[in-house]
Amino acid sequence: MSAFRTSHVLCFIFSCSQTLASFGNFWHITDLHWDPTYTVTDNPELVCASNGARPVTNAGKFGDYLCDSPWDLINSSVYAMKDILPDPDFIVWTGDDTPHVPNERLGEEAVLSIIGKLTHIIKLVFPDTKVYSALGNHDYHPKSQLPPEQNNIYEQTTQLWQDWLEPESQLTFRKGGYYTENLLNRTGYRVLVLNTNLYYDQNQQTADMEDPAGQFSWANQILTSAASNNEKVYIVGHVPPGFFEKKRNKPWFRSNFNRRYLELIRQHHAVIAGQFFGHHHTDTFRMFYDSNGNPISVMFLTPGVTPWKTTLPGVSDGANNPGIRVFEYDTSTLLVQDMVTYYLNLTHANVARDRWEKEYRLSEAFQVADASPASMHRVLNRVAADRCYLQRYYDYNSVSYDLSACDGSCRADHVCSIREVDFDRYEHCLEKEGAPSPSHALTPLLLSVAFSLFLASY
Ligand SMILES: *[C@@H]1O[C@H](CO)[C@@H](O)[C@H](O)[C@H]1NC(C)=O
Ligand SMILES: *[C@@H]1O[C@H](CO)[C@@H](O)[C@H](O)[C@H]1NC(C)=O
Ligand SMILES: *[C@@H]1O[C@H](CO)[C@@H](O)[C@H](O)[C@H]1NC(C)=O
Ligand SMILES: [Zn+2]
Ligand SMILES: [Zn+2]
Repeated sequence: MSAFRTSHVLCFIFSCSQTLASFGNFWHITDLHWDPTYTVTDNPELVCASNGARPVTNAGKFGDYLCDSPWDLINSSVYAMKDILPDPDFIVWTGDDTPHVPNERLGEEAVLSIIGKLTHIIKLVFPDTKVYSALGNHDYHPKSQLPPEQNNIYEQTTQLWQDWLEPESQLTFRKGGYYTENLLNRTGYRVLVLNTNLYYDQNQQTADMEDPAGQFSWANQILTSAASNNEKVYIVGHVPPGFFEKKRNKPWFRSNFNRRYLELIRQHHAVIAGQFFGHHHTDTFRMFYDSNGNPISVMFLTPGVTPWKTTLPGVSDGANNPGIRVFEYDTSTLLVQDMVTYYLNLTHANVARDRWEKEYRLSEAFQVADASPASMHRVLNRVAADRCYLQRYYDYNSVSYDLSACDGSCRADHVCSIREVDFDRYEHCLEKEGAPSPSHALTPLLLSVAFSLFLASY
């Protein structure tokens, strides 16, 4: 009798663990930045409005590294998703739909119409797929000024996305551009879509606030009850905390918001199974550690579809090939098992055809078992210690656009921005790498130059 019971129990455990090991996958796309003005013409000034006054010679059908995406590139990327993985469990879409042009060239109506067109093509190609969609800083007029309260753009996007939003999500999205719901409506699984544009240092609407739109206290409360309900959570957003790896000492969040975001993750890491963000247009990740230095969470930054070369001063040759990404995950724990990045070689596409290729699979390229915090910590250590891994990471960072060598200073920028989301710790990391931030390194120099100019003018 008792033997029977034991085997029965074992059998139960066994079949249970078999159901536990089931895998799913989802797409993550970001930063499509459609430029409706893009035209293939011989006049280098007239190709696109997003060129930032840089002449565009040799523009091709699928786009140019100096411009945001033409429609042909948007269309090609969405159909490539359908071709590669037609039936994902869901899609994560982290915003930035409009082109990099001055506010005067857009306006609220144009912004909404662009969000609408991109929403439409995703729904057309994936009519039955759930989409978790976050607003980017470019999905507002004026850009980056997303308010901490109700407004017409939140209202209109709620309507555009209503098939993707549960009724409760529509309420919070209207008020603050964020929402939470059960992942695929399954009990025990949750997604939080955040509006971190509220924390962007360019956002004047939230500059002096402690907790814009009450999002931090809301997230804190959701994650607290997630813990008591034994839930697993994915966090989705656009602007990430921490630093831009291609420009030394360039954070996006205001410092109080950066601190608070880190606290949120540290406090609730046990229920957070992954963070998925965009905004950089590059392929990288961010580590989160507890106070003992143990890896507790990872933020994955997926590269953009737009190839647009950034005009941010201090970044040289900051373009990328268009990239899209599949995440593979354990459906019972939400552990990220692996990720596969696909890309379009834009140069090739324009001379031949739009062939989307696998760029790399994380586990193969970096020799890790999965994409857990412990494994990504291992990836970081390999990138930091081994020139071959560093160079591989660096090639992928621009989606195989910039294949130049990553030197010591480049290494410090990338390694410190991956390792340290905290402002002070980042600076300390650079000092340890012998690559202090320019504010410190250059201040005495600039002061002495300024002083001698001052003297010279007399
Ligand atoms: C979009 O891409 C698909 C697949 O390549 C193609 O069949 C279709 O003609 C394209 N549509 C437009 C408007 O370019
Ligand atoms: C989600 O589940 C709830 C309760 O189980 C149900 O009422 C609701 O209709 C479901 N929503 C969707 C979109 O299936
Ligand atoms: C992209 O295509 C161009 C033109 O065919 C080729 O020269 C280049 O090596 C390709 N880049 C990569 C990373 O394969
Ligand atoms: Zn962007
Ligand atoms: Zn952005």
